[in-house]
Amino acid sequence: MSLQLGDTAPDFTADSTAGEINLYEFMGDGWAVLFSHPKDFTPVCTTELGEVAKLKGEFAKRNVKVIGLSVDSLEEHNAWKGDIEETQGQALNFPLLADPDRTVSNLYGMIHPNADNTLTVRSVFVIGPDKKIKLTITYPASTGRNFDEILRVIDSLQLTADHQVATPVNWHYGEDVIIVPAVSDEEAKSKFPQGWKTIKPYLRVVSQPSN
Ligand code: BEZ
Repeated sequence: MSLQLGDTAPDFTADSTAGEINLYEFMGDGWAVLFSHPKDFTPVCTTELGEVAKLKGEFAKRNVKVIGLSVDSLEEHNAWKGDIEETQGQALNFPLLADPDRTVSNLYGMIHPNADNTLTVRSVFVIGPDKKIKLTITYPASTGRNFDEILRVIDSLQLTADHQVATPVNWHYGEDVIIVPAVSDEEAKSKFPQGWKTIKPYLRVVSQPSN
């Protein structure tokens, strides 16, 4: 059975381009994004890893550590790194796990045999400080991911964790949010003293608290 939202993210220790990494130690009490790409020396993956490296500061601002992974070896990762810098104008600056024996890929269900029996698909797991899985996304090998969307979801997840608000369709940081139904009007008065707009009793809109 595949990992689902709310499940505990399996811990592991694996080799990476930044040395041996233990997931839980690496995360400390922060957040993590663990994502797989299908294969080194491939075009879409090269663009994705360059982009994630460019966004490292955005992830760090949100207290998120990023870890990439494929079933390639450490030697292959190290040989490929230079191409990422050369073609994307940005050096790899986060760990890339080497998983040739597929230990981590299998733990996280990143190989989808009916898509490809040998390569990891483009999986994304956002893991919270409680080590629970907060988001899963799966893309096919032929489609590069939108990492701005992953940052957007992290903003939403962190607002929910800190302020008990949810985010509406197509929300972007700074726009109005929704008070979660579990918060009563009585509780909301102390949480949101500036007030809110009740459109329906279950749809209460409030300006976005800052994180
Ligand atoms: C790519 O990164 O371009 C890619 C990798 C595996 C299969 C197809 C495309």
